[in-house]
Amino acid sequence: MKIGAPKEKTIGEARVALTPESAQRLQKLGYECLVESGAGLAASLPDSAYEAAGVKVVNTAEELWSQADIVVKVREPAADEIDASPSDKILVSFVYPASNEALLTQMNSKNISALAMDMVPRISRAQKMDALSSMANIAGYRAVIEASNNFGRFFTGQMTAAGKVPPARVLVLGAGVAGLAAIGTSVSLGAITLAFDVRPEVSEQIESMGAEFVFLEFDEAQLDGATTNGYASPSSQAFIDKQREKFRELAPSIDIVITSALIPNRPAPELWTEDMVASMKQGSVIVDLAAERGGNCALTKPGSKYVTDNGVTIIGYTDFPSRMAAQSSTLYANNIRHMIDDLTPEKDGVAVIDMEDDVIRGALVTHQGEITWPPPPPKIQAIAAASPKPKEAVESDADKASREQKELQRSLNLTGVMLGLGGILCLALGAVAPPSFMQHFIVFVLSIFIGFHVIWGVSHSLHTPLMAITNAISSIIIVGALLQVVSDSWLVMILASIAILIASVNIFGGFLVTRRMLAMFQRS
Ligand code: NAI
Repeated sequence: MKIGAPKEKTIGEARVALTPESAQRLQKLGYECLVESGAGLAASLPDSAYEAAGVKVVNTAEELWSQADIVVKVREPAADEIDASPSDKILVSFVYPASNEALLTQMNSKNISALAMDMVPRISRAQKMDALSSMANIAGYRAVIEASNNFGRFFTGQMTAAGKVPPARVLVLGAGVAGLAAIGTSVSLGAITLAFDVRPEVSEQIESMGAEFVFLEFDEAQLDGATTNGYASPSSQAFIDKQREKFRELAPSIDIVITSALIPNRPAPELWTEDMVASMKQGSVIVDLAAERGGNCALTKPGSKYVTDNGVTIIGYTDFPSRMAAQSSTLYANNIRHMIDDLTPEKDGVAVIDMEDDVIRGALVTHQGEITWPPPPPKIQAIAAASPKPKEAVESDADKASREQKELQRSLNLTGVMLGLGGILCLALGAVAPPSFMQHFIVFVLSIFIGFHVIWGVSHSLHTPLMAITNAISSIIIVGALLQVVSDSWLVMILASIAILIASVNIFGGFLVTRRMLAMFQRS
């Protein structure tokens, strides 16, 4: 069979559903590949790259639709594309069937079997075909890049000769696929990153990425029975009030807000209100990823960027993946390639629509003259629907104090036993070893003991500065050199002076390095 990718007709859409790389993999599956001339140009994929990969380049969309048995696309086909298409094709693209019923009817009239990439169920086997996730990942990354492009300062804090630069403070609302990608990018650029989601179970993931989860604190009375995992129910008024109170408190200190909060098949919740925008500093930036569904910020204008009267830039672009067309085409074409792999059980270049396959059935929206959307629930439980892990019981203050007391007691006992054993060993050794050896040996043992206790309590992140300062202090060589510098021999005097010079460099250098390193940990 032949697989073909036409040039996207939607204005501004730069992605393409077939790349030379994915075409080579499809050819190995037994397919012949076609592409419309210029289809990959906006994604930096010229016709010559396709030809080099053995893909046939056809001149027009009509030629492509008539020659290909399977048409792969990014955006849902336009009505005139379906009108011009011959019957009995297989189409793989984003379809959004819930808001495109007329398109489903039209495709049905042409007996097109349409597989919607946006309907791939979120089960583990289908992750490699999950185009929504791969596009959301890109959108989250690009949102941070777009924000930094519109923000007049560094993300990371810096100590420069010209002065100290504080790090940017970024707040990410909604920690799904796009939100987590935004958190990762923001943290890696060095910003202090805070994140909020209605699902408290994502807090561990957020914290493991180096960001801080914004918890809402509730009184028992406020919870009033409406809880999820010991947290107020997100739909309760107490939750909404508390959330707004927290955001109002944060707004003046936040430089960049990235919103990606959404519950599937619902309009985006309004989280960042007009007064929060008004209380942000001049030069702050808001990137609203949910703009397409109405936006999480009250002042977002979907599809555009503008600056408010108080100098806050609000970005509501709805085409972030297309703004990184080379990357998103690669990932999307891979998602499609995996989907076609699933459609080709015999690996013989013949697509088979298997209604028993959860992934294919979930994505199939029209088939053999029938609208097959919505699909039945998948037999395998969806990842998203998997019940969250119950939150670990919160330790009370009294329990914590008693546990700490026990741990301290245990550690004191252990130290006592070790000291006792050490003492006995020293006595035994002293009975046989010469006194000069014992004197040095006891100093040696005590320094190990003290050194161990000093270093054990230091956090891992401070080990390097600790090494630097230890290096400085341990320049005992200077003491010897000072004693020798008054020698009558000029050779000893010169050597001692060199030793003093080098040891001084070591001491002052060590302190200087420590100071600089500690400054890196002071973030505000
Ligand atoms: P997702 O479903 O993986 O994540 C959404 C997250 O929002 C979930 O973690 C959910 O718990 C959270 N959430 C829901 N209601 C909330 C509330 N009231 N407060 C705080 N958090 C809340 O969705 P995904 O894939 O991360 O997409 C996020 C958004 O990005 C969607 O609106 C999607 O349409 C949009 N998007 C935008 C693109 C663009 O170019 N602008 C491109 C790709 C995705």
